[in-house]
Amino acid sequence: MIQEEKALKKFVQNTFGVSQSRAGTHTVVAKLIHWAFIAVFAFVLSKQVDEVEELEDLALLQEEMFFASVFLLLLLARYIYMHSTQPTVLPRDTPKRMMWLAQVVHQGMYVSLALLALSGLGIGGMYWSGVKDGTFFEVVLLSHEIVFWVSVNLILAHIVGAIYHRFMGDGVWDSMMPRWKREAEE
Ligand code: HEM
Ligand code: HEM
Repeated sequence: MIQEEKALKKFVQNTFGVSQSRAGTHTVVAKLIHWAFIAVFAFVLSKQVDEVEELEDLALLQEEMFFASVFLLLLLARYIYMHSTQPTVLPRDTPKRMMWLAQVVHQGMYVSLALLALSGLGIGGMYWSGVKDGTFFEVVLLSHEIVFWVSVNLILAHIVGAIYHRFMGDGVWDSMMPRWKREAEE
C-alpha cells in the first residue's frame, strides 16, 4: 500500500511537475484569521434573507447592511495583512502554472466575496431609497446571486487543492493547520 502510494505521488509529481521543496508555515495570526473568517462567513450566510420582500422590515434591512459592511472590512483587513506578510507558503520552485492556479483561486475568492458584500449593499441601498424593482434592481440582484455561486465554486476548488496538498504531503496543508494538529499527526 505504502509502495503504491509512493508510486502514485511520484506519478503526480512527474505529471504536474510540482515543487520538490517542503512548504513553510503560516503565522499564528494568519491561521487565526483563516479559520475565524470561515466562521464569520457562515454567520453572515445564516443571516441571509430568503425573499426580497423581507427587506420591508427596516430593522432587518439595517442589520443586513451592518453585517455586510463588517464582513467587507474584515475581508479588506485580511487582504492587507496577508499581502503585507506572507500570502502563500508555496515554495519558490513551484511550477508557474501551479502558482498561477493558486493565485487565481485565492484572488478570485477575495474578489467574489467582496463583490458579494458590495452587491448586497447595493440591493440594500436601493431598497432603502425606495428602488424596489426595475431592470437595474433586477440586474444587481442577479449579480448578487451569480457572485455567490462563483465564490462557492472557488471555495470548493480551494478545498480540493488543499486536499491535494495533503495527499502530496508537501507541507502546504499543514501550513494552515493549528500546531497541536500538526504535532498529533507527526
Ligand atoms: C477545509 C477547508 C479549508 C482548508 C483545508 C484550507 C486550507 C488552506 C491552506 C493550506 C492555505 C494556504 C495556501 C498557501 O499558503 O498557498 C489556505 C489559504 C487560503 N484560504 Fe483556505 N482552506 C479551507 C477553507 C477556506 C475557505 C472556506 C475560504 C474562504 C472563505 C478560504 C480562503 C483562503 C484564502 C483567501 C487563502 C489565501 C491566503 C489568505 O489570504 O488567507 N479557505 N487555505
Ligand atoms: C456579505 C454579505 C452577504 C452575503 C454573504 C449574502 C449572501 C446571499 C446568498 C447566499 C443569497 C442566496 C443566493 C442564491 O440562492 O442564489 C443571497 C440572496 C439575497 N441577498 Fe444577500 N448576501 C449578503 C448581503 C446582502 C445585503 C446587505 C442585502 C440587502 C440588504 C442582501 C439581500 C439579498 C436578497 C434580496 C437576496 C435574494 C433573495 C431571494 O432569493 O429572493 N444581501 N444573499
